[in-house]
Amino acid sequence: MTIQFHDETFRGDYSFKNSDWAIKRFPFPFHEDSYMYSVNMEQHRGGPDGSIYEKRFDVDEHYVSEMRDRAMVLADDPLRCQSLPHMTLAGWDLLELIMVSKSEDYPDLFELHRNGDKWRWVNKPMGIDDSFTFLDEATLPYGPMEYITRQTQGDFCVLDQRDDNLWMDAGMITTQADWSLDFDIGMNFFEWHAPVPLAHEKGIFVRALKFLLSIQQGAPARRLNWTMTVNPLLDTSPENYHKWGIQKTSVTPENIGAKQHLRVELQTFFRLPRSNALVFPIRCYLCCFDDLMSVPKWGRRLHRVIRDLPEELATYKGFIDNRPMMLDYLSAFDDGQPTSMGI
Ligand code: HEM
Repeated sequence: MTIQFHDETFRGDYSFKNSDWAIKRFPFPFHEDSYMYSVNMEQHRGGPDGSIYEKRFDVDEHYVSEMRDRAMVLADDPLRCQSLPHMTLAGWDLLELIMVSKSEDYPDLFELHRNGDKWRWVNKPMGIDDSFTFLDEATLPYGPMEYITRQTQGDFCVLDQRDDNLWMDAGMITTQADWSLDFDIGMNFFEWHAPVPLAHEKGIFVRALKFLLSIQQGAPARRLNWTMTVNPLLDTSPENYHKWGIQKTSVTPENIGAKQHLRVELQTFFRLPRSNALVFPIRCYLCCFDDLMSVPKWGRRLHRVIRDLPEELATYKGFIDNRPMMLDYLSAFDDGQPTSMGI
């Protein structure tokens, strides 16, 4: 289908809105009526037509506006994009992966013309037509990772692999769920996961790391993660907590359906060819409670998941104070039927 790009905001007047198409393909993350952390990894090799899994890097109606929001975040705070000196080659790997994937998966929107190391990249939605020399930084307006991730939805961690561990040595992080690249830069897999409750004790990170270290080129993997966000904010960073944290107190029983958003991250993992780095794109999808309730089985299930979620997780995900109000709203959509029944 041809994508109609929205002109919308993720701050100020919050004009972000999902079309019926976007609601239908929203990645509702719960496969049962309760939730606990697990090593929920699967292969990322396409998916049903039209789903968010179909393409390697999903492009949707929010693309152009999300890129505008990213540019605003970077203008305020350049440290949201960092790459340690040894990661430049991985940045080129990432640029190639994204350009090849997008031009093959969306030929009407993106074109890549290659003649040896002379490349031409055309990004029609963003009005970009650039020629450059592959592996020559001086021919691009930014470093390769920054250049391509200013044009690609989702955050990106680029991990160096050494000493049987992964190291967060580069990233473009402007749409994160309350963690900071500037704080985590240079940390390893266990260090940056230190604040997560309950998962370390369950051995989840030891097993997850083992899986990640063995990911091969051409065999990407994926998982979903989720949290809650008040207002359709992309930038929920610790750096800007003073701006968005207070908004959690603006939720009332009257506005919760419109203000409270389920925030789902499609996290994918790709091995990069020259650098052997691992790239971890984190693509954020937002959907307000009112829109979620248009799918009755989601309403029933979300009520049960939120009601029974361990306190540690509701606290870590930042909605423990608003949970009672959420449950008042959601319980009206739970008719007690099994969630496997009906639509
Ligand atoms: C949370 C990064 C892979 C499970 C986080 C956080 C970061 C992060 C920065 C936030 C920690 C904080 O509170 O400061 C990454 C990166 C990965 C990766 C860069 C890829 C190399 C995985 C994998 C799993 C996982 C494979 C599989 C189990 C989790 C969980 C949380 C978390 C359960 C808590 C999320 C929540 O409750 O919202 N991760 N992660 N991560 N990560 Fe990862």
